[in-house]
Amino acid sequence: MKDISPFRNVERIRHNIETLSTFVDTSKPGWTRRPFTSWYGQGRDWLKQQMQACGMEVEIDASSNLIGKMKGSDDLKPIMVGSHTDTVTGGGRFDGIIGVLAGLEIANMLKEAGITLRHPLEVVDFTAEEPSEFGISTIGSRGMVNNLSQEMLERNDPSGLTLKDAIKMAGGDPNTIAENARKKDDVALYLELHIEQGPVLEQSNHKLGVVTGIVGIHRYRVTVKGKPNHAGTTPMNMRMDALTGASQIILELEYLCGLNYSEPVVGTVGKMNVEPNASNVIPGRVVFELEVRSHDTEILERIIAKLIEKSAEISEVRGLKISFDCLSKSEPIRVASQVQDVLREACQATAPAISLPSGAGHDANQLARITSIAMIFVPSQDGRSHCPEEWTSYEDVALGVEALARAILLFDKNLDFV
Ligand code: HGY
Ligand code: MN
Ligand code: MN
Repeated sequence: MKDISPFRNVERIRHNIETLSTFVDTSKPGWTRRPFTSWYGQGRDWLKQQMQACGMEVEIDASSNLIGKMKGSDDLKPIMVGSHTDTVTGGGRFDGIIGVLAGLEIANMLKEAGITLRHPLEVVDFTAEEPSEFGISTIGSRGMVNNLSQEMLERNDPSGLTLKDAIKMAGGDPNTIAENARKKDDVALYLELHIEQGPVLEQSNHKLGVVTGIVGIHRYRVTVKGKPNHAGTTPMNMRMDALTGASQIILELEYLCGLNYSEPVVGTVGKMNVEPNASNVIPGRVVFELEVRSHDTEILERIIAKLIEKSAEISEVRGLKISFDCLSKSEPIRVASQVQDVLREACQATAPAISLPSGAGHDANQLARITSIAMIFVPSQDGRSHCPEEWTSYEDVALGVEALARAILLFDKNLDFV
């Protein structure tokens, strides 16, 4: 295989990461680029120019995903490389971003090395991978594989905008998502480079991670209705306090997720709204979003069922009305062992590598519904992510890009087994 490491360009990778990190909402902490915002649009305009500059044809698909296309020499289904350029609020400069820029960098490397793949290459920036204001994550990749329901498209964000309209404003065509969706095997293979967002690679002194599987995530919105009342004149035994009731549910989630299961489980409540949110009023209504993650769907379902059961008891004792609405579910993914073998060969030719599962969800969870998926991780400093401290050295990113490029060259030669 032609050696492509001379084409690995750390300087260009640094420049692209730092340029994209300038398109952010500076009124928020960290490097915040929420989907469907002006900063997101500016970042995509810049990305589109970079894709065109390296000779790619660029389109926005019906789900508003930004896709750069490079022709292959043979009439084959495309190899797809992607991730996301949207961030969480207060996020960093690497989560998702390095996966999209890796695709751009590999297109540049192939061009400079004079290599034409047999398969067409597609580089995708998937819209809104992070949980959006519509309560849904992986919006673009869900749409690409026809896993975005009409009910989801009709959901509103707090301003009243529907997801359907947001997709249209981002250049998509929501009415044709289903008919334009990629069907099974329309994509020869999907690959994603991502930061680990955990401590394993750094603590074990490895530069590359071959991802063995990705967690499933079940997300719910919980509404707790009590009775607002005066904080000073209402005796403790006469209260219907929505916030103490919500707190009991949240502590129950923590307890249930802390028990022993056959697979690791995590549960989190990171978003909450208290009404009327005044220090001298007993909260009358609380809405919060919870998520549970595991590599085993049965465990996820079991924990949610137990939590709903316990919430019925809490509502009885406290005189509260409690409802659970499912926001989204992504299923756990296992990466095919032959795909892992090729990834391992590509990684080990580049730098010290180990295999590990992903506790983070990715667009790959959705692409796995229509094709085989492959992921490579690079180290996260102190295991931190989804915060301004998120950091991966540009040299480590470049090693990830090189390993991904090697993997693509190997898969391009022979994908019959996938
Ligand atoms: O939340 C996640 O796992 C991913 O970073 N969106
Ligand atoms: Mn993320
Ligand atoms: Mn991500």
